[in-house]
Amino acid sequence: MHLQNSEKKKPALTFSKPFLVIAHRGDSISAPENTLPAFQRAIDAGADMIELDVQLTSDNVPVVFHDATLEKHSNGFGVLSDFPVKKIRSLDAGSWFSKAFAGEKIPLLTEVLELVKNRILLNIEIKPESVTENADSGIEYKVCELVRLFGMEEQVLISSFDYRVFERVHNIDPAIKTGLLYNREQSGRLSPAELMQTYQTFSFHCSRWQLRKKWIKECRQIGVPIYVYTVNGRRTMRSLIKKGIAGIFSDKPERLKEVSGRLLATG
Ligand code: G3P
Ligand code: CA
Repeated sequence: MHLQNSEKKKPALTFSKPFLVIAHRGDSISAPENTLPAFQRAIDAGADMIELDVQLTSDNVPVVFHDATLEKHSNGFGVLSDFPVKKIRSLDAGSWFSKAFAGEKIPLLTEVLELVKNRILLNIEIKPESVTENADSGIEYKVCELVRLFGMEEQVLISSFDYRVFERVHNIDPAIKTGLLYNREQSGRLSPAELMQTYQTFSFHCSRWQLRKKWIKECRQIGVPIYVYTVNGRRTMRSLIKKGIAGIFSDKPERLKEVSGRLLATG
């Protein structure tokens, strides 16, 4: 039977799948990272979750961009947070990738929420550059406010390398999940299990280079999923899935979907 697009089976929006294919900055191998086309392609590739980076403009609008400075992934110059949203929105964030994406804008977080609502899980990474001492007017409020406005509390996971973010998010809205991005300086000698106990996050995130065998065991014992970034090679994908990692961030979600699908189907 041939299904129309609208009739196609929608992916289940749940964090409790045994393995999550996470599109790192969207499908960033086939479109400029952290742009709407990259996010749309991640949805089309059948990823379970999109990961993106969010920071604030000088007039406090959450926008989606990875680097603190503009030059590598747009035609702007200088520090993103020094400019108002109007200026940020006038930049071209696609030409650096290819002519086909010329004129692509740096997305507003609201645009992404609108695009992904009820379609795919979303991991919003709050960049440390935008986290301020003052918790009351910070980026955490802006982001949570929008997630609530869109009614997406169940669909979103907020992560950060800055551990101050978690308590703030929990206080603003306990329904929104948080993920701890392992940061050696802030962790001191604490193990992942101790970090989970301290910060009460839903998940533990680390790079493939940081990951330790004992961390996998520890997290399994306490029922905390480990999500590992950024993996694009098939061999490493396979090896991590076999070790029981609960999710992988990849610039190539289509490949990860294929590799994980095969492995998990054959047990
Ligand atoms: O959230 C995982 C990963 O995206 C963290 O590193 O530098 O790609 O934001 P980065
Ligand atoms: Ca990120």
